[in-house]
Amino acid sequence: MSPFLLTRTLPEDATDAALRADVLKGLTRTPRTLPPKWFYDAHGSDLFEQITELPEYYPTRAEREILVARSAEIAAATGARTLVELGSGSSAKTRHLIEALTGLRTYVPVDVSENALTQAGQALITERPGLQVHALIADFTARLPLPETPAPRLVAFLGGTIGNLLPAERAAFLASVRALLSPGDALLLGTDLVKDEEVLVRAYDDGAGVTAQFNKNVLTVVNRELGADFDPGAFDHVALWDAGNEWIEMRLRSRAAQTVKIRALDLTVDFAAGEELHTEVSAKFRKEGVRAELSGAGLGLTHWWTDREGRFALSLSTAR
Ligand code: SAH
Ligand code: TRP
Repeated sequence: MSPFLLTRTLPEDATDAALRADVLKGLTRTPRTLPPKWFYDAHGSDLFEQITELPEYYPTRAEREILVARSAEIAAATGARTLVELGSGSSAKTRHLIEALTGLRTYVPVDVSENALTQAGQALITERPGLQVHALIADFTARLPLPETPAPRLVAFLGGTIGNLLPAERAAFLASVRALLSPGDALLLGTDLVKDEEVLVRAYDDGAGVTAQFNKNVLTVVNRELGADFDPGAFDHVALWDAGNEWIEMRLRSRAAQTVKIRALDLTVDFAAGEELHTEVSAKFRKEGVRAELSGAGLGLTHWWTDREGRFALSLSTAR
């Protein structure tokens, strides 16, 4: 078998249909919304990689610090022979884990970004001869048709990406992850933690404006895929802390009254001056909240590790 396999679980026209349905639903309700998975075309994935290197964006560095310090413990606790990673992106931090998992046979990165999967997968098979990489182009919020791979399995969901799901979506997501786990398998989850508001807001509104570009990229995706005429320059990037929900909320604020046409949907949308389009939330967590959410999905927390500054946590849990 070739050491690198790439499987598309959804036909491309299904992705197109999902985008149409999401955009139609999101732009015809109040407040208007666009769902986050559409940020990540090739350009969006590239912008996200730039975000991970910004001085203000601490989560990637904090999570990497934990992985460097704890990968040997994770390997000892799980003995994983298969690593499944959801929303794997560039798999950059995952390399520390892969190196430590000496019994690892198969790595299954799952992402909506084909570009990210191909680049990361090709690099990994040369770095770790003998490792089978079976990449899946798939939506991790849908049912995942995982390939048959050796047990025990470790499912990793890093980057704090779980915070980009709303609470009800998180519950459904964790229940579906729980369903993938057999006895002896484990979930490794990265969660960004509640902290000083100023630090949080700056992580999502950087001085160089990369996050603003990333947020606006969703408009470019809709322009290209659905023949819309959004002018990204006519919107301002907004990041604010919602203390009640303990999440960062990303929005795009219309600088003036304007009309946008989405040709493929035969839809015209009027934005008032100052009207905000909701694009993404990034929830921040506390240990007891993570424990409770895992528990609600039938998962028991076994390990909790943070970086030295206590900004970010990695947890390990197993099916109960
Ligand atoms: N794990 C990496 C990347 C995090 S960014 C890190 O920690 O740096 C989030 C990643 O999840 C992106 O690569 C994006 O393409 C992917 N993604 C977002 N929504 C997704 C979905 N619904 N299904 C599958 N992948 C998704
Ligand atoms: N998972 C990342 C996070 O919540 C995604 C992200 C970082 C993001 N910066 C963003 C999403 C800006 C939208 C806009 O930290």
